[in-house]
Amino acid sequence: MALAMAFLFLVVLGAGVHADTSFQYYQFSDSSGSISTLGDARIYIDDLALELTNTSAGRATYDYPVRVLSTSPSTSISFETTFIFSIEPDVGVPSSYGAGLTFSISSENTTVGDPGPFLGLVKANPSSSLALPTVKYFALEFDTHQDTQFQDMNDNHVGVDFNSLISNQAKPAQSGVTPITLASGSHIQAYVTYNSLAKILDVSIAPYVNQDYVKPAQSLISVPIDMGTLFNEYMYVGFSAATGAGSVKHKIWSWTLKTTTVDSSGQPVASPPDSVNSGPGPSPSAFDQGSGFGDSGSARSVSSILWPFLGLFAVMVGLVCS
Ligand SMILES: *[C@@H]1O[C@H](CO)[C@@H](O)[C@H](O)[C@H]1NC(C)=O
Ligand SMILES: *[C@@H]1O[C@H](CO)[C@@H](O)[C@H](O)[C@H]1NC(C)=O
Repeated sequence: MALAMAFLFLVVLGAGVHADTSFQYYQFSDSSGSISTLGDARIYIDDLALELTNTSAGRATYDYPVRVLSTSPSTSISFETTFIFSIEPDVGVPSSYGAGLTFSISSENTTVGDPGPFLGLVKANPSSSLALPTVKYFALEFDTHQDTQFQDMNDNHVGVDFNSLISNQAKPAQSGVTPITLASGSHIQAYVTYNSLAKILDVSIAPYVNQDYVKPAQSLISVPIDMGTLFNEYMYVGFSAATGAGSVKHKIWSWTLKTTTVDSSGQPVASPPDSVNSGPGPSPSAFDQGSGFGDSGSARSVSSILWPFLGLFAVMVGLVCS
């Protein structure tokens, strides 16, 4: 049964509020805690996927605000996220198209944006063709429709957006030198890394080939940006998507995200875990459900170290108290 197949693992490192976030969803089910959905979005049990659209727009966010901006001048926060998505055309309706999908880091988690060019991320401004400037965000857009008001280059591009759907940088979708059709229904893995010391954001995508995803050596987009100027200390991470004309499905199949607070030499500011939260999920033996999913090695090693340690700790506490 699909129950207990999804896995959520949240490690809170550091003292109190100065916490790094790390989680992995190898798939989604009704036991995938800590994800809230708005609009069309829902967790689709038959697929074990997060389905963002049906006929309009949807959004899904991780419930816990993620600390993405350090208030201490001696530290900064890097992050990396990977996710697998697919955009499935509406086969019955040839003229239908989707608008696209975004991963976003946003200042709020309660509004689903408008459909079409607004990608389910932001609300349209009723008095212009642009968006209401009420939300702070970084978004990575996978845009499958050319919208001239947002200066889209074509109907198959990847763009990075900072507080505007007019992309700061955009590239036709490709993995290394291989062109990718975003709305083919095929699974695609995205890799997003922000190095807070170099202040560079890197984005790559990889298709599923020979039962694997291979991250290309060269980033698709590499942008110098100081994310600190965009972010509040705590922001919400998640996805949005929108249809255009028709009912294109936008799905997320798995997702990992990790923040790392680093000092001025780039070393992680490590301190022992002060709390461990495991969401509703399986025993650690089910981690292998994530096979074929890149970048999961470190997650496995962290959890394989932590779980036996916690078990031993619980036994010791039990002995001492008895
Ligand atoms: C928004 O975030 C808060 C925590 O800050 C959470 O309790 C709430 O469920 C979230 N709501 C939605 C719709 O995501
Ligand atoms: C999708 O939209 C159609 C048409 O509005 C509706 O009948 C159907 O129930 C929706 N499906 C889901 C899963 O929400």
